[in-house]
Amino acid sequence: MRVVSGIQPTGNLHLGNYLGAIRNWVQMQDDLDEGSECLFFLADMHAISMPHDPAELHKGTLEMAAALIACGIDPDRSVLFNQAQVPQHAELQWLLTGTARMGWLNRMTQWKDKAGKNREGASVALFAYPVLQAADVLLYQATHVPVGEDQKQHLELARDIAQKFNNDFCAEDAPLFTLPEPFIPPAAARIMSLRDGTKKMSKSDPSEMSRIALVDDADTIMKKVKKAKTDPDPLPDNLAALEARPEALNLVTIYCALADREPDAVLAEHAGQGFGAFKPVLGELLVETLSPISARLRQLLEDREAIEAALARGAAKARERAGPTLADTYRALGLLRG
Ligand code: TYM
Repeated sequence: MRVVSGIQPTGNLHLGNYLGAIRNWVQMQDDLDEGSECLFFLADMHAISMPHDPAELHKGTLEMAAALIACGIDPDRSVLFNQAQVPQHAELQWLLTGTARMGWLNRMTQWKDKAGKNREGASVALFAYPVLQAADVLLYQATHVPVGEDQKQHLELARDIAQKFNNDFCAEDAPLFTLPEPFIPPAAARIMSLRDGTKKMSKSDPSEMSRIALVDDADTIMKKVKKAKTDPDPLPDNLAALEARPEALNLVTIYCALADREPDAVLAEHAGQGFGAFKPVLGELLVETLSPISARLRQLLEDREAIEAALARGAAKARERAGPTLADTYRALGLLRG
């Protein structure tokens, strides 16, 4: 089993990233069998696909690495690095752009959402973004890719690219690329904004009130939960009854994910209560879960050189793991390499 996943180092880690992805990264790392390995990376090369501030990106990469360690990623057990220190990602991306089709990329919802109406003005990197993401996982022959729901389409594309490359350039009994399986958690795969239950919680939402950052202090968390949009109805006794109430459903989903309990059991306990009673319970559970993480993060950030050194060590390991597949890809394409 080869587990590979990444996160863009823009903005702070938020509850959606944590419940949708990072918590599962930690669990997969902790449950790993002998002979298996996890590679986790900061997708700093993806972050240049949108307008960005270089100083912020530099600082954000280090801080996001520290945040992952604070959440439980252990750089001695998992390979933790940033893409920019492993140029094999960019090399494989170029090699795969010969296989990826314009039509496939044109259908990506993230491309459509982020480019909006201004496609002519969007960066080439934004369009080619999913090819780099495919390279990220194919480079390491990933078998499992733990992500939130919003990354599913990109991973399907990675599988399509792998399959077409194998068909076009490999013997039938010797495919080069492993088809990666997305691992999407059954609950909490899509945590929604606290201000609008139809939009996902996101780093790019201009309102800080729309998301809980992992570094928020207890007062901020309580305030954000109390101000979260809800409706005046009391909680029902089953999940199906929340279907048309996206904000209420989101808060219950967050509670269940944090408490690691089934929604119907939680609802049976709180049925008939309004959000005036439920929100403080949820807020306390959030504080209880996140405060040890933010305390550890503050401590880690006191020694930024140690984080940098951990990333450099991880990158050296990643470059080593990446070597054979990259060499095979050049060879399969007929490129002369001395
Ligand atoms: P990114 O940085 O947007 O998000 C990192 C991870 O967090 C998940 N996530 C969520 N899960 C549930 N609810 C939410 N509201 C929510 N918001 C974010 C994402 O699904 C993701 O798993 N393109 C990727 C980074 C990437 C990558 C890769 C991932 C680059 N290369 C290779 C996997 C494999 C991204 O921008 O994720």
